[in-house]
Amino acid sequence: TQAPVNVTVTGAAGQIGYALLFRIASGQLLGQDTPVRLRLLEIPQAVKAAEGTALELEDCAFPLLAGTDIFDDAKQAFEGTNIALLVGARPRTKGMERSDLLEANGGIFKPQGEAINAGAADDVRVLVVGNPANTNALIARSHAPDVPAERFTAMTRLDHNRAVAQLAKKLGVPVTDVKRMTIWGNHSATQYPDVFNAEVKGRGAAEAVNDEKWLAEEFIPRVAKRGAEIIEARGASSAASAANAAIDHVFDWVNGTPQDDWVSMGVPSDGSYGVPEGLISSFPVTCTGGRYEIVQGLEINEFSRPRIDASVQELADERDAVRKLGLV
Ligand code: NAI
Repeated sequence: TQAPVNVTVTGAAGQIGYALLFRIASGQLLGQDTPVRLRLLEIPQAVKAAEGTALELEDCAFPLLAGTDIFDDAKQAFEGTNIALLVGARPRTKGMERSDLLEANGGIFKPQGEAINAGAADDVRVLVVGNPANTNALIARSHAPDVPAERFTAMTRLDHNRAVAQLAKKLGVPVTDVKRMTIWGNHSATQYPDVFNAEVKGRGAAEAVNDEKWLAEEFIPRVAKRGAEIIEARGASSAASAANAAIDHVFDWVNGTPQDDWVSMGVPSDGSYGVPEGLISSFPVTCTGGRYEIVQGLEINEFSRPRIDASVQELADERDAVRKLGLV
């Protein structure tokens, strides 16, 4: 059998952490052949709660869980890590300006990037979930110069899965009939879910829907504002669905995407589709052999172009703001 893979989870005592850890330990992150060792990072006040979760993990007697260690120090938590899930972040609180939010998160993602650079395993792969996810990933990446840039990714898989589900529902088909969905841009309300390149049973999805008004006025805002809808209904933000998306993101990155499909990931742009190089933007990607590639050659029509551009502009503005703060 294989040696355990080290998986670091930050914000482990939070609500996504609670939904995520048991699925990782049960083998759903990397597959049923791969034992895992969990390394949990929390702030000192939340270490006790993380210890409680570790007791429950023990009580599951997961065959694939080689152990759980808990840290309040980033250097230690990322030592030897193969997969780093950066979930813990500073939420926006009342009266907080955007620059305050970016600065507070810089205080988290800069030292975590440095710790990954100093101690992570050579094959480390990083997924940033904590918001603003794309820009937090950019900050972490710029403090890890020895790690290949493409190993830093941000999560837009929840948006992707939401878009697949809403489209399937509209057309009355199973979600498995929907392929090649794409989320472009930022994980924010400006994101653009693109059905023009998506397919339903091999047919163009936009053509299958045949209702541009529904796309513009219902589908796109529904997907982009789904987070707020969940908060309104549940009284708390998406947690299990976010954890599920993190599992999907890493599983597909490591194990590959099907031949006839792709997924959405926030990845450093190589300039594709006019997205400035270096911005961590959501793209359609295929994965093989543990590497992802941005899908090339898709047609961007007149409906899509301004929407992609607006979300990418927001990413550029966030980058400029953190640059001003000296965070990248
Ligand atoms: P939460 O508030 O329940 O948990 C966050 C945890 O992070 C807390 O336990 C806190 O102590 C911890 N934390 C804070 N600073 C830390 C640090 N420096 N190091 C380690 N841990 C730290 O929040 P929840 O619901 O679990 O969400 C986590 C993040 O994920 C939020 O930023 C949220 O906005 C984001 N999110 C992103 C989604 C996406 O699609 N990219 C979807 C849903 C949530």
